[in-house]
Amino acid sequence: MDAFRIRGGRPLRGEIEISGSKNAALPIMAAALLTRERCVIRRVPNLSDVRFMGDILKSLGAHVEFQGETVIIEAKDIHEFGDYELIRKMRASVCILGPLLARLRRARVSLPGGCVIGARPIDLHLKGLTMLGAKFSIRGGYVVGSTPALSGAEVFMGGRVGPTVLGTANIMMAATLSLGVTIIESAACEPEVVDLARFLTSMGARIQGAGSPTITITGLPELHGAEHEVIPDRIEAATFAVAAAVTKGELTLKGARPDHLGAVLDKLREAGVGIDRQGPNLVIERNRSRLRPVDITTQPYAGFPTDVQAQMMVLMLQVPGISVITERIFESRYMHVPELCRLGADISIEGPTAIVKGGKPLSGAPVMASDLRASAALVLAGLAAEGETTVKRVYHLDRGYECMDEKLRRVGARIERIPE
Ligand code: UD1
Repeated sequence: MDAFRIRGGRPLRGEIEISGSKNAALPIMAAALLTRERCVIRRVPNLSDVRFMGDILKSLGAHVEFQGETVIIEAKDIHEFGDYELIRKMRASVCILGPLLARLRRARVSLPGGCVIGARPIDLHLKGLTMLGAKFSIRGGYVVGSTPALSGAEVFMGGRVGPTVLGTANIMMAATLSLGVTIIESAACEPEVVDLARFLTSMGARIQGAGSPTITITGLPELHGAEHEVIPDRIEAATFAVAAAVTKGELTLKGARPDHLGAVLDKLREAGVGIDRQGPNLVIERNRSRLRPVDITTQPYAGFPTDVQAQMMVLMLQVPGISVITERIFESRYMHVPELCRLGADISIEGPTAIVKGGKPLSGAPVMASDLRASAALVLAGLAAEGETTVKRVYHLDRGYECMDEKLRRVGARIERIPE
């Protein structure tokens, strides 16, 4: 296992190129199972989660080849027996369920794992696929599904806290090869769902309304191969935007797609961070003005993303006064808090709410990464703190950030990867 050793207190300056989106690339790779023909997917980030998805598709019989940032997938002859351990490792592997049922009429996946940020059930995925005509049972740790044929239906994807992103992806993929019309109500509106719909459309699928709460899919007997370029990673862009702010630096985020970052940019601006939109690029600058406390509530898109909550907390720690975070998507998403407190942070948790008393200096300490975005927050805190911070278990970060240490080093961060 690797760790990051960070010596903080240095402003970051320069340009960072934003990578392709992990959360868009994973379901798009799964969607390649819907056709026997060759799919070419470009701007795929080099991440352990992406390689896992490649291995899962290979274990189903697909041919998968990585060529730099491009992955070529040909799922000519596939079967439903995926590798149990591989699938268990990653939450996003659940989105092979829809394509397998649509293409083979049977599917078998181990109950998915992933970041430990709450219970993360898959009941809405199963409910939606059941509406399309699938039947499920749990056998030996596997979810086993089968259907004589999927047919279009009205499917409501709203759960306890709103729509499910990968659930919407699963139903949309399954519906492309179902008989008749499927209408997904209360669909997730995330840009990653829209990107998946774009890929499916280029495979010949008939989809209307992606990006809105109602998606209509007219099923077809088959789809064909396609080429696609994945959208930039809005969570990576948001993380580096906060990095510029917490180090009192200035970063140009190249290819960041500001139109996907509305809620994050709005809060940064409200806190007093300088933001300049330059076409597809963003310039983030912590100008001299005093920062102000801000309150955030995480919500489904286009609200403030739960995947940026931990990083934003680090900015709040630098602002004198009280900022309040309310986490509405995942109930246990405060695992970074005890670790931030090791650096001197003053944060208390009451149910879904974190009360952040900012303005106290942070000082470096050894900390432990617990999940992907929590790890990113610890790196940001290390960059802002005086002295040395060691972030252990950075394999969590390698799941979702492409060469984070290298990208940060190029803009002046003192960060090195060391064996733990
Ligand atoms: C995706 C993202 C993840 C992000 C999350 C919310 C990927 C690979 N991951 O995860 O980074 O944090 O969206 O934006 O794209 N829920 C149920 N039943 C279900 C499914 C979900 O109750 O069947 C609940 C979850 O516990 C959670 C909420 O719905 O409270 C939202 O989860 P969901 O949108 O499904 O997250 P993912 O798609 O897994």
